[in-house]
Amino acid sequence: MIFYFSGTGNSKWVAKEIASLIKDNCIDICELNEVPNIDNEEQMGFVFPIYAWGVPEVMVNFIKKLNKTNAFTFCICTCGSEAGEALKKLSKIYRLDSSYSIIMPSNYIIAEDIESENIIDEKINKAKEDLENISKEIIERKKVYKVHEGSMSKLKSAINKAFNKFGRTTKPFYVDKNKCISCGKCSKICPTSCITLTNGYPTWGEKCYQCLRCINYCPKEAIQYGKSTEKRGRYNIEKYLD
Ligand SMILES: Cc1cc2nc3c(=O)[nH]c(=O)nc-3n(C[C@H](O)[C@H](O)[C@H](O)COP(=O)(O)O)c2cc1C
Repeated sequence: MIFYFSGTGNSKWVAKEIASLIKDNCIDICELNEVPNIDNEEQMGFVFPIYAWGVPEVMVNFIKKLNKTNAFTFCICTCGSEAGEALKKLSKIYRLDSSYSIIMPSNYIIAEDIESENIIDEKINKAKEDLENISKEIIERKKVYKVHEGSMSKLKSAINKAFNKFGRTTKPFYVDKNKCISCGKCSKICPTSCITLTNGYPTWGEKCYQCLRCINYCPKEAIQYGKSTEKRGRYNIEKYLD
């Protein structure tokens, strides 16, 4: 079984591709109501995006609840450019036989604009090739650590604690009422059910993973995070899959 978490579809796509290549199933951890029984699994995978050079807290908390297993356990993180020491840290919490990073388009529009269509297409095509190779290694039960950590990885991954403590604030989220059509999509798709509609307009509660699904999927690009996103594009993988 492959367990995934995904904000804007990259990690979901990776989980589905790898599941089909190694003939296994995958499931969104946000759809699970109880801790899954993994006692009979022969192989187990975790797929998720990198947030501030770390593993999303929701994934860490999920993994911590799992029983220990003898199954071959692999992990694939998706990131815009570098994963830091996220998977090394995760392997201290749960045994990982193999660890990979896959470079995917960045959805972090709070910090930077979306990439050009060419770069996005190139990244997705390269990821397809990488996944073919990764799937072969998983089938062969190869124990490898193929993670692009990037420079100053130790220092950067230390920042992750601060991200979880302070960086995930929802205070800067707001909706442009001239653009919002009150479709409620943001509220429906939020993985933490953190968004409620007040007079048809979204308001954000506190429990936010900062997956940026709401801002990147809004059909009218009406959602902003402070000033930084006003002039930036929006990313989700569905726009790029044929
Ligand atoms: C809050 C946040 C923090 C991020 N931090 C990093 C990072 O440290 N390094 C990186 O390469 N990409 C970073 N990204 C980009 C995502 O990891 C990348 O786009 C990922 O593939 C998104 O996966 P998803 O579509 O499954 O949510 C960050 C994205 C978000 C939303």
